[in-house]
Amino acid sequence: MSVSTNPTKLYEGKAKVIYTTSEPEILLATYKDDATAFNAQKRGSIAGKGNINCTISSHLFRYLEAHGIKTHFIDTPTDNQMRVRAVKIIPIEVVVRNIAAGSLCQQTGLPLGTELKSPLVDFYYKSDELGDPLLTRDRILLMEIATPGQIETITNLALQVNRLLQEFFRRCDIILVDFKLEFGLDAQQQILLADEISPDTCRLWDSSQTDANLRVLDKDRFRRDLGNVEGAYQEVLQRVLKAVSS
Ligand code: TMP
Ligand code: ASP
Repeated sequence: MSVSTNPTKLYEGKAKVIYTTSEPEILLATYKDDATAFNAQKRGSIAGKGNINCTISSHLFRYLEAHGIKTHFIDTPTDNQMRVRAVKIIPIEVVVRNIAAGSLCQQTGLPLGTELKSPLVDFYYKSDELGDPLLTRDRILLMEIATPGQIETITNLALQVNRLLQEFFRRCDIILVDFKLEFGLDAQQQILLADEISPDTCRLWDSSQTDANLRVLDKDRFRRDLGNVEGAYQEVLQRVLKAVSS
């Protein structure tokens, strides 16, 4: 039996399509312009988003790798394609928050923009069917989604990534409000940072703007119909490119 080397679609998510490659340990992630919010109840498209998010993510993964964080990133054969190490995604969305926004405000009543004394790490169950519910450590253990050691490793990595990304975005005159990470296990059961890091998965505020709407440089522009979505994504890209070239 001959082994096909043609890429086969392995999985299609809301923002990316994952293809197999001729090498079983390497996958190809193609970033899409499609945008969704509120568990895909709101759908649209952001022109150029696939290229922009792939490029921003690739620079952030390179930066994190250079600072000792193991990621799935390999390289970018084209502007919207990323070769990644194959991992089994741990179905937890790990959210790190520095400033209160989004669901934290809705669920706690904390005013938007409240600076948190220390970063908050929240876990959500990655399940569209269940609407990505908030998890507790005990629920993760109950459902056998991760072991105690894996929860500890993921938490420490998320906090380390937060420190590094805060520092990086400071150089871009951007405040890192919060962001979502996903981790996966490679064939050796090693935990790698996976998925993407982009204006789709981070809240990014322009530090030179005080206006609550004008400062938004991320997917909240799409979620909340603030307009100029493409412009905001382009702005983040330009600032990231400037930061990595200086
Ligand atoms: P939240 O305030 O809606 O919980 O979002 C927290 C952060 O996680 C925010 O930066 C956006 C990001 N996020 C995702 O990347 N994917 C999601 O499905 C959700 C709900 C949030
Ligand atoms: N991932 C969300 C969705 O399911 C979008 C978001 O709010 O980031 O549509």
